[in-house]
Amino acid sequence: MPLVTSTEMFKKAYEGGYAIGAFNVNNMEIIQGITEAAKECKSPVILQVSKGARAYANRTYLVKLVEAAEIETGLPIVLHLDHGDSFETCKSCIDDGFTSVMIDASSKPFEENIAITKQVVEYAHAHGVVVEAELGTLAGVEDEVNVSAEDSSYTRPEDVQEFVNRTGCDSLAIAIGTSHGAYKFKPGTKPQLRFDILEEVQKRLPGFPIVLHGSSSVPQDYVQMVNTYGGHMPDAIGVPEDQLREASKLAVCKINIDSDLRLAMTGTIRKYFHDHPGDFDPRQYLKPARANIKELVKHKIVDVLGSDNKI
Ligand code: G3H
Ligand code: 13P
Ligand code: ZN
Repeated sequence: MPLVTSTEMFKKAYEGGYAIGAFNVNNMEIIQGITEAAKECKSPVILQVSKGARAYANRTYLVKLVEAAEIETGLPIVLHLDHGDSFETCKSCIDDGFTSVMIDASSKPFEENIAITKQVVEYAHAHGVVVEAELGTLAGVEDEVNVSAEDSSYTRPEDVQEFVNRTGCDSLAIAIGTSHGAYKFKPGTKPQLRFDILEEVQKRLPGFPIVLHGSSSVPQDYVQMVNTYGGHMPDAIGVPEDQLREASKLAVCKINIDSDLRLAMTGTIRKYFHDHPGDFDPRQYLKPARANIKELVKHKIVDVLGSDNKI
């Protein structure tokens, strides 16, 4: 099966009360870990590439690696641009074979967000590609953009119908209390996503797929592993997984996870070097990192997203 768009995936996910995991990819081992997990769990999956990842790997490698994963696994895979910052970036990904793009003009004024999203939608739809847009702003760091907690803002439900109708976007990312990166909430606090906003958005856009960014849960065993073996991650907790499961049963059809994969990979490699100080063959330390990414993604698919056994 060639790479697919998310249209059918989201329709089934919405109706079935589960969500599709959208995992960020930067290299071969990450792509293999995620797709091997998805294959074992019989789960559809979205592999997403940020502008930074594309700059790191160059514009060809990640597309070809994702195509290789599709050939190896036979899975329905969406290749998605994460946080496209301009029409040009989105166009370039569409021209390269991405099946889905995000245009993130959420930091721009409402009318400007609509205008740029509409421009991307017109080009994307003419090429059989779907578009995710965003309303509301998340706190945290993505690429060079760092949004402080004070500058972040929840999505206003009263804006969503007009935005979707005027832009023609295929899915909408909303801000309900998640944030990017590994430092989301202080330990000892009780994070609570704004389900009232999600429910209000769902009422105004029945059947329309909603996206949650910043949905890592920051597994404490990996934070500890990083710190035990020489790292210095400040104490922090992530989005509670039971709240993500709850959101998946509502209109949320796509859940973005990057930081958790980074923690699993980095913790594993730090421990490996502590245990094997003399090794210098990259395959030896990338192999357990890949295996732990696979286990983590299996856990997300089965226990958080509910997308197992859906193909
Ligand atoms: O939301 C952003 C993702 O975590 C990607 O991060 O821009 O550092 O690749 P990146
Ligand atoms: P996390 O930093 O919580 O993993 O969020 C990733 C994300 O939203 C990618 O777009
Ligand atoms: Zn994001």
